[in-house]
Amino acid sequence: MKKIALAIVCLCGISFANDYDPVKGEMLAFSCAGCHGTDGKSNGIMPTIAGMGKTSMQKTLLDYKYGRKTGTMMTKHVKGFSDDELEQVAYYFSKVKR
Ligand code: HEC
Repeated sequence: MKKIALAIVCLCGISFANDYDPVKGEMLAFSCAGCHGTDGKSNGIMPTIAGMGKTSMQKTLLDYKYGRKTGTMMTKHVKGFSDDELEQVAYYFSKVKR
């Protein structure tokens, strides 16, 4: 099962060199604001995610989704998103100034 998931990730990495869709990115980002703060600028105990590099955030999100990285909230939250959507949301936050 893990191998299959990995293969899917690799395939997506190659086939989905997506263009950024700002509207979609922002819509998806609303679902993160509840925990990470408006535009990913946290003023609490949650990590600030605004201004993170797109590639590293996308990797982190996919790692949570496919169980390569453990978390409390994130592992559950990202399961509701397609890989494509996680890329769009990573684009969005990478463009937000801290
Ligand atoms: C229910 C609350 C919650 C929501 C909603 C949420 N997060 Fe998180 N996020 C967390 C917590 C808590 C952590 C710390 C890791 C953990 O325990 O899961 C975290 C960690 C992260 C990290 C890693 C930060 C670091 O410095 O390592 C990223 C990136 C991230 N979240 C992005 C997102 C994105 C993008 C969304 C929206 C799609 C989102 N989060 C929605 C609670 C949330």
